[in-house]
Amino acid sequence: MDKYYITTAIDYVNGAPHIGHAYEKILTDIIARHYSQRTDNLFFLTGTDEHGIKIQKTAASKGITPKELCDENAQKFKAAWKALDINYNKFIRTTDEDHKKIVQKIFQKLKDKGAIYKHEYEGWYCSGCECFLNPKDLTEDGLCPDHMKKPDIVKEENYFFKLSAYKDAIIKHIKDNPDFIVPSFRATEVINQLEDIQDISVSRSKENVGWGIDILDDPEQSIYVWIDALSNYITAIGYNPDGESDEQFKKLWPVDVHVIGKDILKFHSIYWIGILMALELPLPKHIFAHGWITIDETKMSKSLGNVVSPTSVLENFELEYPDAFRYYMATSAPCGRDGNYSDNDFKEKVNAHLANSMGNLLNRTLSMLVKYFDGEVKEEFFVTKSPEKVSGSLSLIKESAGKIKVVENHFNHFEIAEAAQEIMSIVDSANKYVTDNAPWTLAKEEKMTECGQVLTTVLEVMCVISSLIYPYCPNIAREMAKQLSYDITKKLEDITTDEIKPGKLISKEDIKPVFLRVDSELADKSVKK
Ligand code: ME8
Ligand code: MG
Repeated sequence: MDKYYITTAIDYVNGAPHIGHAYEKILTDIIARHYSQRTDNLFFLTGTDEHGIKIQKTAASKGITPKELCDENAQKFKAAWKALDINYNKFIRTTDEDHKKIVQKIFQKLKDKGAIYKHEYEGWYCSGCECFLNPKDLTEDGLCPDHMKKPDIVKEENYFFKLSAYKDAIIKHIKDNPDFIVPSFRATEVINQLEDIQDISVSRSKENVGWGIDILDDPEQSIYVWIDALSNYITAIGYNPDGESDEQFKKLWPVDVHVIGKDILKFHSIYWIGILMALELPLPKHIFAHGWITIDETKMSKSLGNVVSPTSVLENFELEYPDAFRYYMATSAPCGRDGNYSDNDFKEKVNAHLANSMGNLLNRTLSMLVKYFDGEVKEEFFVTKSPEKVSGSLSLIKESAGKIKVVENHFNHFEIAEAAQEIMSIVDSANKYVTDNAPWTLAKEEKMTECGQVLTTVLEVMCVISSLIYPYCPNIAREMAKQLSYDITKKLEDITTDEIKPGKLISKEDIKPVFLRVDSELADKSVKK
């Protein structure tokens, strides 16, 4: 694989980040880290969406300028991603000068081509969606179904993008490429929306929306948020609409995947595709629409007061690393489905999977290696080099090696929770193998080669597990690899079945638990709060 370019949605900065924003960034970071194990040219873009009426209104209500509000909140997003170990390559803000300049040129180019035209318009504008709604999409009471708010009637002369001209081509592209929209069940939804698609408004009057990017030759109008926001995916990597684009753009475009929430699929799989077609640029390979996160099975909302900040989870449970939270979020829902966060479920799941099953397996095995062999792995323990003395050893090694492809295949389809389940199934098989063969009994019976073979087989399997769990739990994986003297930076295709080296592996004082159980008292406290 020569490169992998992955993006997240850019978040509105009219508030602080919440657990839903975090879910998306965690999923994306996990996919990015997985692909960094398959290519040297990985590029991960995230950022913030900073223009529009909502931000203008929030700033006004706080008595500060929109730019001040953006600066304040963009920092909160950056701080949260740092705490969650989101390892992006670039953080774009739509108020960045170079982004604004290129967006103006993109707009100009579309206008010059006749893909954008001016038109008098009256419609229902929802500031929550930052778009005009089709009257047939409103609820019976005339509310926006996503925001349960009455849209404003807006009558303006605006610029329009000729989306209808691309309708047939977009439908054809979706039908010809069944893995373009992931999960595929959402493609039907998009095709239905396309059936009655109309041209879209791409500007607002400066009088109504002052906080936007100016249109070069029309001072009365500013560029409306979606053209500005969607363009971030190409401005960030050096697209130039009226000259040579940067080398980086030539190398990275088309994007491998846009990771977004299901609520903004229409903008990405219809509007953005139309714009790219008009610009004559290649189309994204995949658009992955994840589901939504609820809190204790309830929709998060400011009015319910149940908005959870991602960093508060780390603080409540006094977590040193974000790994457990990342693992929990990533496994909270099958591909594209909605997930849920609850403190209690979090505590139970990470204790069971990360502490009891995975962490404990490594800890027990290394402790026995020290107890029975002074931490030394002998040549005759290796089932890949010496005869199999304990049945099931070779098949366990083969099972774990075979899972690498299985996990890769899940990632090819953005099945992050499903891939984690496969990794945990290796952990389960290894635990069962230890229980079945009871190395402590073998030692008592002085069957030392057999005992050593069981331990060495498990340690070999732990190398594979540490590589596969790395995207989810980078800190835990690094600690596991350290105790195994294993190179965690290895590419997946380079992993062999002989990663453990013969000789002294570890001393007693270097063995430590890779993940401490989440304290139930802390959990109870935070549940009561
Ligand atoms: O839509 N669960 O910004 P945004 C899961 N600026 N994901 C959630 C969520 C939840 N409860 N709440 C929000 C925007 N998200 C635009 C995007 S992209 C060119 C412009 C996801 O701050 C949501 O689905 O409202 C979206 O993908 C992202 O967070 C940002 O949402
Ligand atoms: Mg939103």
